[in-house]
Amino acid sequence: MSSPLTACAVFAAALACAVPAYCAESEAQSAQSLRQSELVRLVRQDCGSCHGMTLAGGLGPALSKEALAQRPQSYLQEIILHGIPGTPMPPWRGLLSDQDAQWIARELLRGFPDGR
Ligand code: HEC
Repeated sequence: MSSPLTACAVFAAALACAVPAYCAESEAQSAQSLRQSELVRLVRQDCGSCHGMTLAGGLGPALSKEALAQRPQSYLQEIILHGIPGTPMPPWRGLLSDQDAQWIARELLRGFPDGR
């Protein structure tokens, strides 16, 4: 027979173990979503200075999902990291990690978030 006290101790032990794992996970998630909002701002401002604020094209071509429909994600990721030599499209690998470039390429293909 278990007393209410035992049940309480078991519950407390379960909590003590579950909560840090939960916290670590949600911290990682919020770090990731913070990075993603930084990337949205960077793409809208820095990429937008050449590709247009709405990414509809300017000095550089449109980066809308319609314009990029035939482009593989890995190709876009390479261009973002390494630029296109001989054109104004600069390399971004000093500022962006592989993961960042992969995320931007994926979001461009989906229709980039407008950041508002
Ligand atoms: C200094 C101007 C400039 C900036 C800043 C810039 N680009 Fe470009 N980008 C260009 C130009 C110009 C081209 C077209 C080059 C060519 O092929 O003639 C291009 C091409 C591209 C392409 C290839 C498009 C296609 O249809 O193949 C992608 C993708 C791209 N840029 C993404 C980005 C992203 C993402 C950023 C920001 C991280 C960025 N660019 C910032 C000028 C720029």
